[in-house]
Order: sequence, then C-alpha cells, then structure tokens
Amino acid sequence: MRYSRRHAIRCFAAFAAAPFARAQQAGAPLDLNDPLFQPVRVMDFAPLAKAKLDPIAWGYLETGSEDEVTLRRNREAFDDLVIRPRSLVRMQSVDLATQFLGRNLDFPIVLCPAGGKNCFFPNGEAEVARAAAAAKAVHIHNSGAEQVQASGKGPVWWQLTTGAQISSSTNMRRWVRSLEDRGCSGICFSVDIMYVSHRDRNLRNKLDRAWCEAGIPPRDAQGNLPKPQNPERAGVYPARRTPTPDWNTVGELCSLTKLPVSIKGILRGDDAELAIQHGVRCIHVSNHGARQLDHTPATIEVLSEIAQAVKGRVPVVVDGGFRRGTDIFKAIALGATAVAIARPYLYGLAAFGQRGVERVIELLRTELALDMALAGTPNLAAIDRGMVKYRREYRQL
Ligand SMILES: Cc1cc2nc3c(=O)[nH]c(=O)nc-3n(C[C@H](O)[C@H](O)[C@H](O)COP(=O)(O)O)c2cc1C
Repeated sequence: MRYSRRHAIRCFAAFAAAPFARAQQAGAPLDLNDPLFQPVRVMDFAPLAKAKLDPIAWGYLETGSEDEVTLRRNREAFDDLVIRPRSLVRMQSVDLATQFLGRNLDFPIVLCPAGGKNCFFPNGEAEVARAAAAAKAVHIHNSGAEQVQASGKGPVWWQLTTGAQISSSTNMRRWVRSLEDRGCSGICFSVDIMYVSHRDRNLRNKLDRAWCEAGIPPRDAQGNLPKPQNPERAGVYPARRTPTPDWNTVGELCSLTKLPVSIKGILRGDDAELAIQHGVRCIHVSNHGARQLDHTPATIEVLSEIAQAVKGRVPVVVDGGFRRGTDIFKAIALGATAVAIARPYLYGLAAFGQRGVERVIELLRTELALDMALAGTPNLAAIDRGMVKYRREYRQL
C-alpha cells in the first residue's frame, strides 16, 4: 500500500490534534509530575477513582449482575484471540480515521451512555461532554441535554431509555422532535434494560438510585450515610409503569425521525437482521457492561456472528471490557466499525474530571495507533479478518 507525503502529513496532523499531544507540539511545558500523567494505561485510573469515591459509588461503577460471569468473560475473551502482524509494511504514519454514518471520525472510539455520573464527579455529564467535544469523540449521553449542548460541538448522540418517551406515539414524536431541534446527531435506543437486573454489590450496599442522580450524600461523623428512601432490594420483581417496547416500537421510532437510530444491546445475528429490517441504521453490540442478564456471551465473542449478519449494510459498534489498543484492534478485525467504552472514561472522570476523560481517550487512541504500526496496518481498512485468529485454531494445526 503506497502513501503520498501529503497523506502522511494529513494523518499525522489528525493524530497530533489530541489535546496533550497538541500541548507538547506547541511547546507548552508539560508537567510530567502532574498526577494526570502517572497512569500509563487506562486501568491505572481505576485505583485512583476508587480512592476518591464513596465505596457505594465505586460499587455502582464496578458492579456486574448476579455472579458477574459475563463481567469476567468480557475481559477474558480477548485472550482467546491473537493478532497476526504483517512484516515489513512501510509505516510512515498511522491513520485511525473512519466514516461513521456520514461523519468523519478521527478515531474509532465512542463514549457509551452511563447513568449516575454525578456520583462520580459533580456535574459529571457536562464534564464528559466537554471532554468528548475537545477530543471530537461521539458521546452518547443520557441526561442534561441542555448542559451537554452548551459544552461544545462534539457529535452528540442521545440515549433513548425504555420508559416514558416511548410509552405512546405522541410522546415518541414529541421527544424525537425535541432531539432534532437541539441538533442531536442520532438516537441510541438501549434495548437491554427493560428491567434493572439484580446487582449484588448494589443490593448489599443498599444503593438508593436517587443518589446516583444527585450524587452520594455526605456521611456523618460516624461514617454513616442518611437512611436510603428507596434502596435496591433483593427478591423483589421490579415494577414497570409502561409496556415494554417491541420491534414495532423500533419501526415506528425509525419512521418518525430522519436521525439515524442505533440499537444498543444486540447479541445475536438474527436480531441484527431484524433491526436492519425495521430501519435501524447502526447495530451496537453490547451486554450493558455485564450489568443486565448474567451468563450472556462476551461481546467480542458474538461480534463475528453479528458482523456476518450485518454484511456491511450498517456500521457495527461494540462495547464491553475494552481497556487496551489491542482490544480495539481485535474488534476492528472481527468487523466492528468502532468500539465504545464506559468504565474506563468513568475512572478518568472520577479521578480528574474532564481532564481524566480526555487522557483516557488519548491513552487508548495512542495505544491503538502504536499497535496498528507494530502490526503493519497503516489504517483501519488494513485490519481485516486475517489479522486475528482464535488460539484454538493454532492448536488444531
Ligand atoms: C456506571 C454505569 C452506568 C451505565 N448506565 C447505562 C445507561 O444508563 N444506559 C445504557 O444503555 N448503558 C449504561 N451502561 C452500560 C454502558 O453504556 C456500556 O454498555 C458498558 O458499560 C460498556 O462496558 P465497559 O464499562 O466495560 O466499557 C452503564 C455502565 C456503567 C458502568
């Protein structure tokens, strides 16, 4: 693959636009003693976040559902895949740019919706929105639309919950119009949270959901929190005020708006097919960060099945356990257009606010670029299916 000098300069310029790289280039003094620069990988932000958070907030951030089998699998399954680097490919530059629903993205990393950011950092959603806008990352947010909009011009997506907005055609129409009027670039419909699962850590901590919205209240001199008004309870089947949506709801939503609708929570190829038939423009492979049904597959395990069903008709986003550049590389090889993250940027948020989120994005995209260079893949298109193999395939040889 040949690259012109102009192309190489353009790619380098795009990469160097990252905020910290930019500061370095501009000759601004970088204070390497700044605690922000101590983490060398995104998981190094986790202990910093834990140290800053109330244990209940930390539990809410980290928890999976029930026995957390899927939570562990989301990470372990990456080890089943190996990368097969190409030798002696000219690597003057690395281009992370991709096309996503008609937009140019500088890199294939999206910020997932995450509720309860105020229990990680004051005004958390706005901090994340500012970071996303600075990094020019897609940010799927789920609250405080006005604040998010005020924060910058990043390509913002809204999350559609499974509640009041879709309880009737009238509500859905009204809601969709308000998103269009605000300049939202897409709608993300999370379909795996019809009910909130049993998350043992939250149950043991007697987490009151209202605390996630308002922030964890201060503890008294004895270290006690105020009595929760409505703690999560085991052995109680959760109530639902509105009917659960179905494929007709999806079809209606897609017909009501010109905005692209993405379905988040797809774990099967046949559901991906159904989604496309109902007008969905993006498939988001997700098990909700292992926070909903336990014993579902790791997302990297089902990605191939879904990419094969989608056959390139719409972009495929995948989330769940992405912590390193090599994880992203593997997902691109298996057919993902982009990868989405939640806990990593929430660690950054809890530890440093907006700067932490930006630094997490920067670490991940830098790792991805370096991994691509080492693998002999100058751009995302070069990361084809042949770049990875399952370990078991080697055992069979
Ligand atoms: C604290 C927290 C809150 C979340 N809230 C939501 C939510 O409101 N809606 C949603 O669709 N997904 C939610 N998720 C799931 C994420 O969007 C995403 O699917 C998942 O966490 C990605 O996996 P990762 O955390 O391992 O990166 C939440 C995840 C976390 C950790």
